[in-house]
Amino acid sequence: MYSLFALANLLLSLGTGIAALPSISHVRVPDNSLEPVQIRLAYAGTTGMYISWNTFSYLSNPSVRYGFSPDALYFYASSDTSVTYPTSLTYNNHVKITGLEPNTVYYYQPIFSNSSAIYSFKTGRVAGDPTPYTTAVVVDLGLIGPEGLSTTVGKGAANPLGPNDTNTIQSLMASEDWEFLWHPGDIAYADYWLKEEIQQYIPNTTIAEGYTVYESLLNQFYDEMTPITAAKPWMVGPGNHEANCDNGGTTDKTNNITYTVSICMPGQTNFTGFINHFRMPSEESGGTGNFWYSFDHGMVHYVQFNTETDLGDGLTGPDEVNGTDGEDSGPFGRFKQAQLDWLEYDLQSVDRSKTPWVIAAGHRPWYISGANCTECQEAFEPVFAKYKVDLILSGHVHLYERNAPVNNSVVDPNELNNPTFPWYITNGAAGHYDGLDTLVYPLMNYSRKAFDTAYGWSRLTFHNCTHMTHEFVASANGTILDTATLYKDRTCSSFGW
Ligand SMILES: *[C@@H]1O[C@H](CO)[C@@H](O)[C@H](O)[C@H]1NC(C)=O
Ligand SMILES: *[C@@H]1O[C@H](CO)[C@@H](O)[C@H](O)[C@H]1NC(C)=O
Ligand SMILES: *[C@@H]1O[C@H](CO)[C@@H](O)[C@H](O)[C@H]1NC(C)=O
Ligand SMILES: *[C@@H]1O[C@H](CO)[C@@H](O)[C@H](O)[C@H]1NC(C)=O
Ligand SMILES: *[C@@H]1O[C@H](CO)[C@@H](O)[C@H](O)[C@H]1NC(C)=O
Ligand SMILES: *[C@@H]1O[C@H](CO)[C@@H](O)[C@H](O)[C@H]1NC(C)=O
Ligand SMILES: *[C@@H]1O[C@H](CO)[C@@H](O)[C@H](O)[C@H]1NC(C)=O
Ligand SMILES: *[C@@H]1O[C@H](CO)[C@@H](O)[C@H](O)[C@H]1NC(C)=O
Ligand SMILES: *[C@@H]1O[C@H](CO)[C@@H](O)[C@H](O)[C@H]1NC(C)=O
Ligand SMILES: *[C@@H]1O[C@H](CO)[C@@H](O)[C@H](O)[C@H]1NC(C)=O
Ligand SMILES: *[C@@H]1O[C@H](CO)[C@@H](O)[C@H](O)[C@H]1NC(C)=O
Repeated sequence: MYSLFALANLLLSLGTGIAALPSISHVRVPDNSLEPVQIRLAYAGTTGMYISWNTFSYLSNPSVRYGFSPDALYFYASSDTSVTYPTSLTYNNHVKITGLEPNTVYYYQPIFSNSSAIYSFKTGRVAGDPTPYTTAVVVDLGLIGPEGLSTTVGKGAANPLGPNDTNTIQSLMASEDWEFLWHPGDIAYADYWLKEEIQQYIPNTTIAEGYTVYESLLNQFYDEMTPITAAKPWMVGPGNHEANCDNGGTTDKTNNITYTVSICMPGQTNFTGFINHFRMPSEESGGTGNFWYSFDHGMVHYVQFNTETDLGDGLTGPDEVNGTDGEDSGPFGRFKQAQLDWLEYDLQSVDRSKTPWVIAAGHRPWYISGANCTECQEAFEPVFAKYKVDLILSGHVHLYERNAPVNNSVVDPNELNNPTFPWYITNGAAGHYDGLDTLVYPLMNYSRKAFDTAYGWSRLTFHNCTHMTHEFVASANGTILDTATLYKDRTCSSFGW
């Protein structure tokens, strides 16, 4: 049995040094430890962009060159943000570029050497820009490949990829029409390192090597995402797998041992890795870290909220442990009601004549045919209903369920034809080592379409002020398994109608 005491000793012995990679790793380690890897973008308003990347050594002055063409990177931005945590193999470097033109293509290069790759991004569309566009959403997306979701599974896991299936990351890359990727929680699933070892899925490692295996899975995932995230903003939110180490309770059948205690690596305690790795536009929106924030992009106001901690007065997070917030983490707000007060303020400030669409995403669902988050419903549903949020997206449950517009469990009689209540869709089917979850029948009376056998992602298309379409895209082959259009009867004067 792996005791907490042994874990504590292991962690003590690690100190704060940067460790060597384990032999099993599929992480690409560049010859030069200053070479940028894991490049990722996030909107910082419509005239700014966060550019983040990792290096295997500390950078005293992370810097970026950028410009309007790849051979004229005449502008320069830098920061002193190169952060890490004990056991991490890398440093997270963050530079915010400001003063950009909206809706404009820029070329950029994290400065390493003049021969390093040049990337490009497009800045956000200002609120009130009525141009139709598409956004991609994934929730619960983990490492794909020989140490994650693959065509084979570990003992006890399910839903391997089919031999000819494209996976969700490939499917996202194949579909070029979307402008940014929204990922409201459960990113990488590196906490499954223990489960994967117990189920004999990762060869030639031991549990004592835990943190290197954990960090290896994490880094591999970020490497896999780089072709996408170096080119398009990756807007993330907190999920339980950023903090709760869901790896206890797994049985090693060969040795007849059940690991009852979860082993939480430093990167996971209190969202440490998540806090280090990402920079979301909370400064721009009055939010808090990567936990809650909002941003405008064309005709849409997007709100990322946090279902894991900070649910407000009288409520603890859904994975409460002895009165602490979810996952023994947080709080992150300056006071108990901070997130709820911010949501109220943010939503009441929206100019619906410019951003008629308000879309919110939080990790856990409360409308789902299965285990639901009643604390989340209590905390968030009233404010979303009050401000007539159009659509609320979630994941956490690893399947797809499109519901009707609903409030307080009452289905809107108009359904999608000009409803008063918010529309709810859960799509946690992006894919990770552990496969998919199973629908609980009978489906709830608000359920309209459900799948629990296909990996997939969501594509949102905003046609104009009155119509938006949600599609469930099967990652395996790009087929649209479900499509539904929401109609709202309203005028948008700033759009000229
Ligand atoms: C990169 O190119 C610039 C402009 O040509 C030059 O000033 C700089 O020294 C070069 N840097 C490196 C690391 O080669
Ligand atoms: C995968 O593709 C190959 C080549 O087209 C085909 O022979 C095989 O039957 C396919 N397998 C499945 C499970 O569809
Ligand atoms: C695991 O170790 C064995 C014995 O050294 C070796 O033959 C095998 O190739 C290794 N497997 C992997 C996946 O590295
Ligand atoms: C597994 O261990 C339990 C006690 O921990 C014991 O009762 C059981 O017989 C063992 N099973 C096998 C197959 O050894
Ligand atoms: C919760 O509190 C009980 C009673 O004080 C204690 O026995 C238990 O170990 C605590 N659990 C955790 C996970 O801290
Ligand atoms: C988590 O970190 C926040 C600061 O980011 C701190 O205020 C809070 O006390 C920490 N929570 C736990 C359980 O360590
Ligand atoms: C949440 O689950 C409970 C228990 O299954 C059920 O009674 C309740 O109706 C569900 N709530 C919603 C909003 O689906
Ligand atoms: C949603 O339901 C609650 C509880 O019945 C009610 O107080 C509230 O007014 C409803 N919201 C809307 C927008 O109808
Ligand atoms: C659906 O079930 C809920 C209780 O879970 C109930 O309040 C509601 O009236 C039912 N029907 C409709 C159409 O909302
Ligand atoms: C595409 O993949 C989905 C999900 O696996 C499957 O249901 C569907 O039949 C496939 N369609 C085609 C045309 O192969
Ligand atoms: C809005 O888009 C929908 C779907 O494409 C279309 O049917 C409708 O005519 C459009 N409305 C206006 C005012 O252009």
